[in-house]
Amino acid sequence: MTKNSKGMNELAWWQKAVFYQIYPRSFADGNGDGIGDYLGMAERLDYLRDLGIDAVWVSPHYPSPLVDVGYDTSDYYDVAAEYGGMPAFRRFLEGAHERGIRVILDWAINHTSDQHPWFRESRSSRTSARRDWYIWRDGKDGGPPNNWYSTFGGPGWEYDPATAQYYYHFFFKEQPDLNWHNPQVRQAMYDVARFWCDMGVDGFRLDAPGTMFEDPALPNHTSPRSQEELYVAMRNARNEAEQAAAQKDMEELFKHQVDRPEVHEVMRELRQVVDEYGDRMLVGEDSAISYYGDGQNELHLLFNFPLMRTDRLTPAWVRANQRERLGALPPLAWPCNTLGNHDVSRVWSQFGDGQHDAELARLSLALMLTLRGTPFLYYGEEIGMTNYLFADAERFRDSLGMMIYRLETQLLGTSADEAAAHAARVGRDKCRTPMQWADGVNAGFCPPNVQPWLPVNPNYAQGVSVAAQWTDPHSLLSYYRGLLRARKETPALIAGDYEPLFEDVADYLTFLRHSKADGQACLVVLNWSDATRRLCFEGAQLPAALRDAQGAAARGSQPAAQWGRARLVFSSHERPQVEPVNGLLLAPFEVYVGELVR
Ligand code: GLC
Repeated sequence: MTKNSKGMNELAWWQKAVFYQIYPRSFADGNGDGIGDYLGMAERLDYLRDLGIDAVWVSPHYPSPLVDVGYDTSDYYDVAAEYGGMPAFRRFLEGAHERGIRVILDWAINHTSDQHPWFRESRSSRTSARRDWYIWRDGKDGGPPNNWYSTFGGPGWEYDPATAQYYYHFFFKEQPDLNWHNPQVRQAMYDVARFWCDMGVDGFRLDAPGTMFEDPALPNHTSPRSQEELYVAMRNARNEAEQAAAQKDMEELFKHQVDRPEVHEVMRELRQVVDEYGDRMLVGEDSAISYYGDGQNELHLLFNFPLMRTDRLTPAWVRANQRERLGALPPLAWPCNTLGNHDVSRVWSQFGDGQHDAELARLSLALMLTLRGTPFLYYGEEIGMTNYLFADAERFRDSLGMMIYRLETQLLGTSADEAAAHAARVGRDKCRTPMQWADGVNAGFCPPNVQPWLPVNPNYAQGVSVAAQWTDPHSLLSYYRGLLRARKETPALIAGDYEPLFEDVADYLTFLRHSKADGQACLVVLNWSDATRRLCFEGAQLPAALRDAQGAAARGSQPAAQWGRARLVFSSHERPQVEPVNGLLLAPFEVYVGELVR
């Protein structure tokens, strides 16, 4: 499908790397205060190296009043003291680089915290030098400038009595939007990028780039339903049609506030800034392919979010996603896949079926590591951490969860217990709980006598911990290490084209990854069914990739034999080292990767 002539050695590091997202507050507490920090993270660098990942994305580590756990930045030039400050970060960065691990930072570019000095100055008077760094407008008819909402609930405008104007915020009111039309803002932000690049940081994950601009004419939205009505409609949707209708109206609601053409201009400028450094990269928290620009002049990577927006990963779902996604990429653009992050359900919980969760978790990883593109994994996924739906509203730390709790109890009259349970499901604390290192109080995240910032999932005592799984060859963690190693040693899995096979089969996903430049073709089979399946290539047309890989030897032979043999690269089950491709037998839920040989 996608044609790539570059071999493994010609790819950039971020095309070959497997990324691992760390939520710094929850990864490892080095100083024993119940909050993760860089001291703890540095102590876990050997773990990360031995796991086999190549790069980490660290969620925001800057000083912040924590209204949005760091996505409300009050200083772009520092590291929060509770994470160990700049010295601890530098030591972590150095330690990571010594181990060949790259580090990219999260960067909220749409907004700052309302405590950021830029905003304090901006709000101080209508004539302040930084007034125009944010989006200030007069009210209209005794109310806000227009009827826009904030995506986190309530109006998108906040009245500031000191200067009798409103400022705009797409997210919480404590996250005022920067005015990217202002050239000084752009320069100030590009200087931030240079500051971290100068320090040796390898790139950025750009937070919500699609929200950076809004229609300057400020037209009212014309959605037929209010945000509150849509919240209730989505919450109570009885079927997919109702859900989809509410989703459509929701998009209408924000139509004038996202994905403006001006974003591309900034993406191009930012790309030039990081390109000054040669080997840095940008990944955008957006799925819009348009932000790749021509494939080389905007962002290096954009997440394939559509892939994970389902309750069930099925072969048909993945095939359709790949057809659409890879088909739409501009030439030279590189795909990027993920199934989880700090805003959504954990992979184990999202894609499990309650019956074969362990098997499905293995298939999920296999999908990430064998599809074409750069994979992003989320901390704790490798030990099968699950959503933790603690329903004690007092312990919520995600403002979105708290907001939902308030909405439920105050607006909808939901009982406190039910509201808390609902907020736990919809809020984001569920996937941000502390990393489970060991079997013991607080799972080795912080000392036993300290209360961690978020409750620890008690399932650390049922084997969901690094300690329980590290030396067990059959654990999920060992499986992660094995598959990560196999990927690293198999150029076709990194550089190869993606060519789907058996496209009508419902139970298993089969595709070839072929790197002509590396002279390697691999067959990947992911059996998503609970039954044994036999691959029958009899009479099937030999794909071009295979003909190339097998060379002249394949020509003139019998159709069945054309498929040749496969050398085992990786399997979740015991298998012979070499076996004929035709007739390959797959165990239930088996993950199989074999290199095609003559
Ligand atoms: C992104 C982040 C999310 C945050 C929001 C506002 O979506 O992933 O955690 O709340 O931006 O910064």
